[in-house]
Amino acid sequence: MHLTKEEERVLAGEHGEVAARSMRLLVKLGDIYGAEKMIPIGSAQVAGVSYKSIGDPGRDFLEDYARLGAKVKVPTFLNPAGMDIEDWEELKFPKAFAYQQMRIMEAFRRMGIIMSASCTPYLAGNLPRYGEHIAWSESSAVSFANSVIGARTNREGGPSALAAAICGVTADYGYHRDENREPHFHIKVSAKLEYSSDFGALGWFVGKIVKDKIPYFTGLPDVGTDELKALGAAMAASGAVALYHAEGLTPEARWAKKENLQAVDFGEKELKDTYAKLSPAKDPDIVVIGCPHASMKEIARVAQLLDGKHLKKPLWVCTSRVMKEAARRMGYAETIEKAGGKIVADTCMVVAPIEEMGFKTTGVNSGKAASYLPGHCKQNVMYGRVEDLIEAASK
Ligand code: F3S
Repeated sequence: MHLTKEEERVLAGEHGEVAARSMRLLVKLGDIYGAEKMIPIGSAQVAGVSYKSIGDPGRDFLEDYARLGAKVKVPTFLNPAGMDIEDWEELKFPKAFAYQQMRIMEAFRRMGIIMSASCTPYLAGNLPRYGEHIAWSESSAVSFANSVIGARTNREGGPSALAAAICGVTADYGYHRDENREPHFHIKVSAKLEYSSDFGALGWFVGKIVKDKIPYFTGLPDVGTDELKALGAAMAASGAVALYHAEGLTPEARWAKKENLQAVDFGEKELKDTYAKLSPAKDPDIVVIGCPHASMKEIARVAQLLDGKHLKKPLWVCTSRVMKEAARRMGYAETIEKAGGKIVADTCMVVAPIEEMGFKTTGVNSGKAASYLPGHCKQNVMYGRVEDLIEAASK
């Protein structure tokens, strides 16, 4: 790889041990994937935040970095933590877990990382521009940034995103390059898609087939960003899709090459079968909405549906801190709480220790959550529309 003089100096340790280690990691990745140079990044987003996911070794690694004086060079945002950082006690998160989680947050804070704790940084203060190079690691956010915004990022791991944040650059390979952004599959959608969970089901189905390749969708209805985030998150979880194009909806679809793509059909039968596969359970003991973290529109919808209702089971709406605060101002939080639900910030059903909190069956409307809950959290899953989940939580 060709490095600039400044990058050589970082590598030689002139900016400290952590910066040198970080540059070594980036150069190694660049060598493996055939990059010729480093490129500056506009922002980074670091996953591997929950104590549940990284445990003591991850905590020690981060505390060590903070002690050695690691500092990020570009705006860097955090993925969800294992609990609501402010209301964890009220939400009954275990105290021992909270203590460890706060140590991790403090290490990130000392490195200058913004403690946004959200998988939707683009809704919570970090919106990249079209074509901007970034280094993000949350797979659903990677998909959204690449596909819906047209920014450019690989699916970074937590350590490589942190290294890029510390150096302010990343190696120029993969999705940073035009030639790697062309589609391989043509997904012909004929099913009628109306709800966010329909898009989650489509994403789950497609991710299983295309794995880490790029799909090009036709036949999608004229939807907004909430549905597209649900679609991308599910594909990133059941497969490893980091970029998709959708005719009339995503910016690079117009000039994507459409010849010689492998065709896949998604009709009513596939939609119905996918719901059945994703939803082996019927009777959730908790319902969690907001994977990826709920937008204001989604929170408002839940509040509308819960107005005047009385839930018999817990219901969480997971979102970012900014959205939670705005929902409080708007009165949505009050409506949801009156019905017996909660708005939970900074975390989600997958990275929170919900199995330790006694839950066994979770109701979700997210293809990503449905993919991860059985393995990561030992949960049975009910998959359905928000309306069906609320009904199930009211019984
Ligand atoms: Fe976000 Fe958690 Fe889903 S990190 S994408 S809400 S699994």
